Amino acid sequence: MLPSLFITLSVFSIALLEAKHLPSYIVPCKKSDPNLNTCAKQHAIDATARILHGDRSYKIPSFTPFSIPLIDVKGTTGITFQLKDLKLYGLNTTQIKDVNFDLPNNHMYVKVFIPQTQTISQYLMDGKLLSLVIKGEGPAEIISDNVTVEYFIDYVLINKPDGKRYVDVDALKTNLTLNFSKTHYNFGNLFGGNKLLGDNFNNLLNENPKEVDEISGGTNKVIISSIVSSIFNPIFKAVPFDDIFID
Ligand SMILES: *[C@@H]1O[C@H](CO)[C@@H](O)[C@H](O)[C@H]1NC(C)=O
Ligand SMILES: *[C@@H]1O[C@H](CO)[C@@H](O)[C@H](O)[C@H]1NC(C)=O
Ligand SMILES: *[C@@H]1O[C@H](CO)[C@@H](O)[C@H](O)[C@H]1NC(C)=O
Ligand SMILES: *[C@@H]1O[C@H](CO)[C@@H](O)[C@H](O)[C@H]1NC(C)=O
Repeated sequence: MLPSLFITLSVFSIALLEAKHLPSYIVPCKKSDPNLNTCAKQHAIDATARILHGDRSYKIPSFTPFSIPLIDVKGTTGITFQLKDLKLYGLNTTQIKDVNFDLPNNHMYVKVFIPQTQTISQYLMDGKLLSLVIKGEGPAEIISDNVTVEYFIDYVLINKPDGKRYVDVDALKTNLTLNFSKTHYNFGNLFGGNKLLGDNFNNLLNENPKEVDEISGGTNKVIISSIVSSIFNPIFKAVPFDDIFID
């Protein structure tokens, strides 16, 4: 009996240790506030710069820049596309445009605008794009202008052993829309380093944004989902729901 009792106790004490308040730079709003969304938007604006610097005690990474080791896009177009050692710059200019918390229906919505994002990475491309057979590996730079992201979250609340309600991070349902005015691609070392062919291909990409949308759209959605979950999930895991929205 003793070992099992011990295990129960230690699990319980870990759960108690894990419960945290919101970081001091995120001021909670009241559930009953008739202007809950105005409050949430203002507090999100006030906290954005601080959140983007990361917070080790909440396991929130730094976003200046944001690093992703590997993105692997296997499109339906029959092309393999990988970005390695990716660094995304520009998030420090993020503007919160709209925030909507529908607490009775467990919905959250956030709309942000980023004037310009720049990603620097190593790429690997193998397959057919714009009717050309492409095989290449080297440095890649992708710049997007006037980026608007709308992010929707449906959540469920669960009771944890400490008796408090938390957002169930494993049951989050999310989707997003992405819009930008222009994307500029520069892939180096294409076609075995043939500069003329490489330059022509980069021009082709930049002049045919619709055709590369599937690949860049898929890549961007992976990056954005990773950013949003890097901010929300650690907070949802550590902070009881009733400390995020207070009575
Ligand atoms: C954002 O970061 C870049 C460096 O990555 C810096 O040049 C720029 O001034 C910063 N902008 C703001 C608004 O902090
Ligand atoms: C995303 O989810 C929200 C809420 O569930 C829904 O209203 C919206 O239409 C969805 N958008 C897309 C692009 O799927
Ligand atoms: C997307 O952005 C472009 C340019 O910034 C704008 O003209 C267009 O209306 C936007 N589309 C949507 C669906 O928001
Ligand atoms: C971004 O949007 C602004 C304002 O709508 C516009 O003046 C600018 O030309 C856009 N940038 C690009 C690269 O399209």
